[in-house]
Amino acid sequence: MYDLLLLNATLVNEGRVFRADVGIRDQRIETIAKDLSSSAATQVMDATGLHLLPGMIDDQVHFREPGLTHKGDIATESAAAVAGGITTYMEMPNVNPLTINAQTLEDKYQRATGRSHANFAFYLGASNDNLEEIKNLDPQAACGVKVFMGASTGNMLVDNPEVLDGIFAHAPILVATHCEDSPMIQANEALAREKYGEDVPFSEHPNIRSEEACWKSSSFAVALAKKHGTRLHVLHITTAKELALFEPGELKGKRITAEACVHHLWFSEEDYERLGAQIKCNPAIKRKEDRDAILQAVAEGRIDIIATDHAPHTWEEKQGSYFKAPAGLPLVQHALPSLLDHYQAGRLSLETIVQKACHNPAVAFQVKDRGYLREGYFADLVLVDLQKETTVTKESLLYKCGWSPFEGHTFQSRIVTTLVNGGIAWHDGLPGQKIHGQRLMFNR
Ligand code: DOR
Repeated sequence: MYDLLLLNATLVNEGRVFRADVGIRDQRIETIAKDLSSSAATQVMDATGLHLLPGMIDDQVHFREPGLTHKGDIATESAAAVAGGITTYMEMPNVNPLTINAQTLEDKYQRATGRSHANFAFYLGASNDNLEEIKNLDPQAACGVKVFMGASTGNMLVDNPEVLDGIFAHAPILVATHCEDSPMIQANEALAREKYGEDVPFSEHPNIRSEEACWKSSSFAVALAKKHGTRLHVLHITTAKELALFEPGELKGKRITAEACVHHLWFSEEDYERLGAQIKCNPAIKRKEDRDAILQAVAEGRIDIIATDHAPHTWEEKQGSYFKAPAGLPLVQHALPSLLDHYQAGRLSLETIVQKACHNPAVAFQVKDRGYLREGYFADLVLVDLQKETTVTKESLLYKCGWSPFEGHTFQSRIVTTLVNGGIAWHDGLPGQKIHGQRLMFNR
C-alpha cells in the first residue's frame, strides 16, 4: 500500500522526460512505473499535465539564524523555499555568533529540527584562526567549509595566506569559496567616494565589485586547489572571464566545480536603474554579456550547479544609500520559476535545469539518497504546471522581509505541489500542515 500515489506525471530525471506513476511509502519513492493501480494507495493525486521534478537542492542560502532573525529565520525562509520547489538547502555561517566551530554548527541543527520545512545542512565557516576546527570537522556535521576570500555581509574575511593554504591543504570536505579581492574593492570604493561622495549610484556596484576583483580571487582559489588537490566549489560566478577557470562537461570526477545563482542569470546592469539597492549583492550583478555567457556555461557544463544565495535584508535596511544598503536579496520562492522561464524562452532545457539544480548539488556534496527520482530515494518532489502563470505580488511572499526583486513579474509556470520526505509541504497555494524537513546525511 502506498501512502501517496502520483498518477500520470511527466517526469524529468537523468536526462529524460517521460510519463509514469510514482508510488510513495514511508518517506521514500517506492515505485516508478506505468499504470500503477490507484486502489493500492491511501491518497492519490492526478498529475496529468504536470511535470514532476526532484526538489531543488539549494547549496547556498542565508536564513539568518541565530542573531539576525529580524531579516529572516529558519521557519519563515524554509517555508518560502518549499513554496518555490526547494526541498533541501545548505545554509551559510555569517550569522551571529558566526558558525565557526562544532558547537555553533550543532546549535543550528538543533534550531532547524522540527522547524524547517525543507531538509537542511549547514556550512562550517572558516576564519583566520579556526584551522584546527576545520581539520577536526566531522564530515557528517557540515555540508562544506565556507571561505569568504572576499569580505561581504558579516565579518568573515579569510585573508591570511598561510591560513588559506592550510584550509586548502587540510579541509576534510568540500571547500566553497566566495571570491572577490577585498583590497581591490576598497580601492574602487575610495575612487567612487572621491567622485560621488556618499551618493554613489547603485549602477556603480559592478565597477566597484569589479570583474578584476572577481578574477583575482577566483583564479587564486583555483590555483590553491590545484596545488593541494582540494575539492573546491567556487560560488556565484558573475563574469564571463572567470568561466575560463572551469572545465566543461560532466560533474562526475571534477575536483573543481562552479556555481551560478539565479539572479546573476536573470538581471543585468540595466536593472540597477529600476531596482537599485534591491539587486545590490556580492558579487555584483554585471553586464548582459556576462549573464549570457554564464547561461551558456550552464548548458556546456562549466557551471555545474545553480543555486540562489538567498540573502534577505529588511526593506528599511535596503533604503540606505549605496554604502549603507546591505548586499543580498531574497530569492528562494521564485528560483525554480525563474529557471523554468529560461526553459520557456528556449535558453535552458528542462533536463539541464534538473541536472544543475537537483542532481548535481546532491552529487557534489555527496548527499545521501536525494536529488533524483529513483526508487529507494527520499520523496523530495515538486510538481510544476508549465501552462499556468505565477504573478509575484507582495501578498504572496512568505519571506520575513516581505519584499522581492520579482514583484510585478509574471512567471510562466506554477509550483503546484512540493513534497518533502513524502509529506506535503506546499500544495495549491497553501503550506502543508506539518513540518517534514530532516537533517541531511552524506555518503562520505
Ligand atoms: O550579497 C550577498 N549577501 N553576498 C554575500 O556574500 C552575503 C550575503 C548576505 O549574507 O547578506
